[in-house]
Amino acid sequence: MSFSAAADTLAANLEASIDRWVDWLKIPSISTDPAYAGHCRRAAEWCRDQLTELGFTASLVETGTVTDGKGSGHPIVLASIEPAGSYKGPHVLFYGHYDVQPVDPVSLWHSDPFQPVRRGPLPGEPGGERIVARGAVDDKGQVMTFLEACRAWKQATGHATGGAAYTIVIEGEEESGSVNLQPFVLAHKKLLSAADVCLISDTGMLGRNKPAITYGVRGLAYTQVTLHASNQDLHSGLWGGRCPNPITELTRVLSQLHDKNRRVTIPGFYDKVVPISKKERANWAALKFNQKAALKAIGLPPAADIGEKGFTAIEREWGRPTAEINGIWGGYTGEGAKTVIPAHASAKVSFRLVANQNPADITKRFFKWCKDHTPSGCRWDLTDHHGGFGVTTPIDSPAMRAASAALKSASGKAPALIKSGGSIPVAGMLKDKLGLDTVFMGFGLDDDRVHSPNEKFELDCFRLGCRAHAAFIHHITSA
Ligand code: BES
Ligand code: MN
Ligand code: MN
Repeated sequence: MSFSAAADTLAANLEASIDRWVDWLKIPSISTDPAYAGHCRRAAEWCRDQLTELGFTASLVETGTVTDGKGSGHPIVLASIEPAGSYKGPHVLFYGHYDVQPVDPVSLWHSDPFQPVRRGPLPGEPGGERIVARGAVDDKGQVMTFLEACRAWKQATGHATGGAAYTIVIEGEEESGSVNLQPFVLAHKKLLSAADVCLISDTGMLGRNKPAITYGVRGLAYTQVTLHASNQDLHSGLWGGRCPNPITELTRVLSQLHDKNRRVTIPGFYDKVVPISKKERANWAALKFNQKAALKAIGLPPAADIGEKGFTAIEREWGRPTAEINGIWGGYTGEGAKTVIPAHASAKVSFRLVANQNPADITKRFFKWCKDHTPSGCRWDLTDHHGGFGVTTPIDSPAMRAASAALKSASGKAPALIKSGGSIPVAGMLKDKLGLDTVFMGFGLDDDRVHSPNEKFELDCFRLGCRAHAAFIHHITSA
């Protein structure tokens, strides 16, 4: 059985596919906020029921107690499908996540984040028809492209994966760091390591009508630091100039995180970094990535092309580690003025990592660096939130070839080979614990506003995703 029957079925049923996708998007499965735990469970059940309908054996796996002390974890959807009788072919592990990011600032949304809207671009916006909602692309929309491909195969052939062996893991905590995923991976080691490859649709393309395979994502180490000074808030007239202001001191310390070449100053930070090879540099340059246009789209002039000296923008995103301050607060931030020296000030500081950098090691080095820079009379509270390893996927494997052929069949174009600066913790975990490589076949666009207000996934991208997964099912079994 080939791809064309499934593709025809997909085309004939596009409206119903979109309806199902919209249905799932209406469930506000924000994983980081405990108030949404019930909705997360409903989103998991919704997904489990879809998989059951498609002929998978599907269930929810509870994820015990979390380590951050905030309560129990969100369930993982686990499903598998019996391969056809004499099947000896490859076994694919498909991973996705049903949880979404918080919606704030909610006032910037043009429509309710959980009442999906189907519309064209607003004046000045590029692209075509789209669904606007939280999770539209990250990651419900992308998981949906896989589910709809399975549905089309089932309708066309009676078997959702064309007779191939698939295991499905859809977790509910990716956006909060996959903190309960490792125990799950270890507890299901036998089942998961039966797979030959992990397939994930949670990344983007090179651009509109530029399909791509992502062969690497960065790792992440996420921390929070609080600098304490006095044991109470103080009058800034009486105490200013007489004792440390923790906001001033914290920003003084954090401003030293980068040197004048914008390299991270933490000792040993670059020790394990694998340099970008000459070949990769040449390949990436050949993609002709337009940084100027990318900056313009986010409201920045060419002069904003800044980062670690000696590397192009794409090299900095795909192949170099970075340090970022994600949030900073302290003192009075309300209306009007208040003359105060606060007792403490805090920041969220995270690091994107490349191959071989260990998140725990980087966090340790950062905390030591903080202690070595402790402002006189102050003390730190240092918290390790979560972390994950980066991965690079070998580009010459049967699954990579199947993905490449699938994108070609689905779009008529050979896909570009790209990396991404984002992070997907499961990939490092699967490599580390099971030796499993991950192929990232994603369909997002740079301007999808992931994690931001008005997140969207364009119907062209959705359609391509459905077709590509349908084609992958064909190519992986005929490889
Ligand atoms: N899907 C994204 C990661 C991504 C987006 C990779 C676009 C490549 C292209 C994922 O859901 C995500 O947001 N990951 C987080 C990490 C997590 C530990 C919070 C990230 O990268 O910040
Ligand atoms: Mn995602
Ligand atoms: Mn995300």
